[in-house]
Amino acid sequence: MIKHNISLLPYNTFGIDVNAKHFASFKTVKDLKQILQFKSLKALPKLILGGGSNLLLTKDFEGLVLKNDIEGIEITKQTSDYALVRAGAGVEWHQLVLYAIENNLGGIENLSLIPGSVGAAPMQNIGAYGVEIKDVFFELEALHIDSLDEVRFTKKRCQFGYRESIFKRQFKDQFIITSVTLKLLKKPKIQISYGAIKDELKSMGILQPNIKNVSDAVIKIRQSKLPDPKKIGNSGSFFKNPIVSIEHFKKLQTKYPKIAHYPISDKDIKLAAGWLIDNAGWKGKVFEGTNGKYGVHKNQALVLVNYGGASGTDIFGLSTQIINDILDKYNITLEREVNVI
Ligand code: FAD
Ligand code: EPU
Repeated sequence: MIKHNISLLPYNTFGIDVNAKHFASFKTVKDLKQILQFKSLKALPKLILGGGSNLLLTKDFEGLVLKNDIEGIEITKQTSDYALVRAGAGVEWHQLVLYAIENNLGGIENLSLIPGSVGAAPMQNIGAYGVEIKDVFFELEALHIDSLDEVRFTKKRCQFGYRESIFKRQFKDQFIITSVTLKLLKKPKIQISYGAIKDELKSMGILQPNIKNVSDAVIKIRQSKLPDPKKIGNSGSFFKNPIVSIEHFKKLQTKYPKIAHYPISDKDIKLAAGWLIDNAGWKGKVFEGTNGKYGVHKNQALVLVNYGGASGTDIFGLSTQIINDILDKYNITLEREVNVI
């Protein structure tokens, strides 16, 4: 059941080849509890793994990697307005989106094609095209790694923020999410306010879109912008979009009139890190690494890429250079979105 000294290359979308000292996968909460009860494994550091699409592995992992394979999607309650849909944490996120669309349940169509597992989705409150999982989140179940208590978290308890939740902060490395329940609508509210979706639907000739149409449009946009991890190693956006004060923004706008920005309150403005990095001249740069090339993607400067064989430290080093340059040029400290291990 427990494997030793195995390569994590097939388990991360950045294509980084490091080893795990111990590795176990589990399909049920009972299996997971059994693994966690092994005396010899108790004191080891643990890494919970879903699809490995938001990770940068910089060294061999000397502890126990726990790969979540809990499957299953079910409707646990429904009314004439909504359905509560519970999915095992190991279900692929996009499979859950397809299930919702097939059953005409609205709310996650804008989150189509985000790689990874259902269990990791609340970790960073996944978001895209104007929607975040928090908008449809009902509850999740998680196992406490030390006490083995099974705990339910409501939306409030998860403390969701922009690419944030309690599981990335206070409760970091303390819980394994085992299931997630979403509240999806039987009369879907179509959300196409995010400009690119409207334009895509127009070019598809669709005037009154349903959730399948919205999903198709999102998939098209994503495929045109983001590199496919099956072809080029990456973890999506490497940095979060920074939030700055209006005063700071105004100074930048005077110097860079074209700066991409989104007002989020009367005091704060969200800037596009991709624009900042692009404008600083990093887009498309390629570097020679330890055993292969890596760099900044040619179509999306927020995505760092491994062309094959680069190490996690090569890519981490590049991210540090970018952070320093962005601080220098715009007086903004970028924060990494990707979990660096
Ligand atoms: P992993 O990479 O396996 O894990 C991520 C973190 O969560 C790790 O710290 C891990 O320990 C922890 N974790 C994983 N599973 C559990 C669990 N069951 N319980 C507790 N902790 C757990 N993200 C967005 O928000 N929006 C996007 O539009 C988006 N686009 C992307 C596009 C591409 C091409 C790629 C490669 C990534 C993109 N991402 C995006 C990032 C990524 O898809 C999400 O963060 C996703 O939720 C990660 O899921 P995963 O299962 O692969 O997580
Ligand atoms: N831009 C550039 N140059 C670039 C990249 C972007 O000028 O190289 C500009 C674009 O023209 C646009 C703005 O920056 O004006 C924003 O770009 P985009 O719409 O591509 O979105 P993003 O801010 O780069 C965010 C999320 C994505 C999510 C998309 C769509 C973050 C960190 N990233 O990207 O999420 O899919 O919006 O909603 O919030 C992820 O988290 O991994 C991820 C891919």
